[in-house]
Amino acid sequence: MWYALGVLNTWLTKQLGLEIPIIGAPMGGRAGGLLAGEVSRAGGLGMLGAARYTTPEWVAAEAAIARRVGGSFGVGLMSWALDDDDALLTAALAEKPALVSLSFGDPAPYVDRVKDAGALVVSQVSTVEDMAVAEAAGVDAIVAQGTEAGGHTGRIATLTLLQEVLEATRLPVLAAGGIATGRGLAAVLAAGAHGAFVGTALLASPETTGPEYAIGRLLAARSTDTVYTDVFDKARHQPWPARWFGRAIVNNLSDKFDGAGASEDEIADVYDPADPDCGVVYAGQAAGLVTASRPVFEVVKNIAHDAEKQLTRVCGM
Ligand SMILES: Cc1cc2nc3c(=O)[nH]c(=O)nc-3n(C[C@H](O)[C@H](O)[C@H](O)COP(=O)(O)O)c2cc1C
Repeated sequence: MWYALGVLNTWLTKQLGLEIPIIGAPMGGRAGGLLAGEVSRAGGLGMLGAARYTTPEWVAAEAAIARRVGGSFGVGLMSWALDDDDALLTAALAEKPALVSLSFGDPAPYVDRVKDAGALVVSQVSTVEDMAVAEAAGVDAIVAQGTEAGGHTGRIATLTLLQEVLEATRLPVLAAGGIATGRGLAAVLAAGAHGAFVGTALLASPETTGPEYAIGRLLAARSTDTVYTDVFDKARHQPWPARWFGRAIVNNLSDKFDGAGASEDEIADVYDPADPDCGVVYAGQAAGLVTASRPVFEVVKNIAHDAEKQLTRVCGM
């Protein structure tokens, strides 16, 4: 029987009433209500990726889908973007999410509003100094997000950062970045994490949104085929603070412009979201572990099942 030994029961599963300690990572442009709902239906908690360029109407519509498919859900927002306009936070809280992540920037101005709305609040951090800022802001848990993660991230590897953060805080800690199999989930749980954000592992699933070529590009990519770059932000005129580049699958656009010192307009002129060689597919180094397009439900269940097997084996040693 699955999950029989309780090795997957953690602070996270207890707080949110989950079967398994897996959070479907918020992924702007790729994680809408269907994907989030399927993660929740599989026993974890799925999150909507509310990118800076999305709208309150999108949040409301996708939250309704997530609720219908999976019951509860979370929403991921960028603190630095809320500093300009917090309409997406207002829209998210109106949908009564179980979890809100306020990542990339200081979450302090927003934490009380999230707690007052009855949601748990976490923050993805890239350094131990970021962790101290999030802790001071009053978040419920920290997510140590390593550089191997897909999308925007910092420069320190998941396992290194996870160890640093676990040593530095008494708050519950989750891990993000490169966790795509039961082995990965078992490893971070064994290290002391209470759960994991899983993103890239879900990106070949039919429940994702995004350009039609994205799944094929991911399936063809090896773990060596990603690049950590600001080229795609410049191409799309997204004003991300320079300390967070994005990790994406390499293509002609990144080959031509990464580190080349071109202006935003020069890159934007070549950018073409309809063309896989000049668009963007954000994905992490776990791309090499994603070799088939499988339903989200199956991916999540398999990660949990295999993690339980690994942990049970280790416990028995
Ligand atoms: C396509 C994509 C989009 C992302 N968008 C967001 C986002 O909007 N907000 C956010 O907090 N994190 C975002 N992330 C980061 C994820 O929440 C998470 O940290 C990451 O996917 C975990 O690493 P993994 O991809 O190796 O599983 C994104 C990641 C990907 C792959």
